[in-house]
Amino acid sequence: MQAQAAALSAVALDHATVAFGLAGQSVYTAVEKATLGVADGEFVAIVGPTGCGKSTLLNVAAGLLKPASGAVRIFDAPLTGLNHQAGYLFQADALFPWKTALDNVALGLEIQGVARAEALERAQAWLTSVGLASFGNRYPHMMSGGQRKRVGMAQVLIRNPRILLMDEPFGPLDAQTRQIMGNLLLELWSRDRKAVLFVTHDLEEAIALADRVVIMSAGPASRIIGDWKVPLPRPRDIFEVRLQPEFHALHREIWTVLKDEVMKGYAQSAGTGGGI
Ligand SMILES: Nc1ncnc2c1ncn2[C@@H]1O[C@H](COP(=O)(O)OP(=O)(O)OP(=O)(O)O)[C@@H](O)[C@H]1O
Ligand SMILES: [Mg+2]
Repeated sequence: MQAQAAALSAVALDHATVAFGLAGQSVYTAVEKATLGVADGEFVAIVGPTGCGKSTLLNVAAGLLKPASGAVRIFDAPLTGLNHQAGYLFQADALFPWKTALDNVALGLEIQGVARAEALERAQAWLTSVGLASFGNRYPHMMSGGQRKRVGMAQVLIRNPRILLMDEPFGPLDAQTRQIMGNLLLELWSRDRKAVLFVTHDLEEAIALADRVVIMSAGPASRIIGDWKVPLPRPRDIFEVRLQPEFHALHREIWTVLKDEVMKGYAQSAGTGGGI
């Protein structure tokens, strides 16, 4: 069940424990002793019940949160401060509403000091890559949720991060659009295979996209309780891959572990299980 260690490690969490201070003197331990590696070029999905600490783990990998104990290494160097090798795609849109799609995508380069003309040219190429060649002059409110996600993806990828951190990026989209976005992500990822840490509630999405699926237990003090390699060949079409017997077998195997945690997670968020 344990996936083998890979050559070059892009993200390595070593016994990372994350705790939050609450009102009064109390401390809430969200994640306990998480040990997780993502190899360079590897696509790892994290699945777990609501409130278990998935976003917390991504924030640790992004350098936005410092673990109370344990270590974080990025490409074999200790992470101090923000992880500048990573691009972060959030669940919520992070586009500036007063900027056009083209300007939103170009912004990432302009911040890095790239001249505006070149930034715009490269932004247009990225809009084309995500299927929005003719949408450059639209503002975010003039696009659908799926189109805004495409712009968000272009905005992150144009900076060419070596690591992609994705927190339920397709969460608000309908099922069909999620699948289309999943295929687009796989197509873009296969060009240069960045290391990806992808958080989702959706076990099917995780198996269809990832090389490995990691499961977290319900909190508090959530732990990583499973790590499966996905034996499905690439390139994958995520519509097709769901029809394969290996997909169903793996889904069944992981779901037997995940199901109990999901029930505990719901009980806790409803206030019947002792969590917050
Ligand atoms: N700043 C904070 N202060 C106190 N507790 C927090 C803070 N941020 C998160 N938590 C708690 O830590 C736990 C993990 O939160 P996190 O956002 O990582 O969960 P998640 O797995 O991403 O959930 P979801 O699937 O609903 O997005 C939750 O119980 C949450 O209430
Ligand atoms: Mg979350």
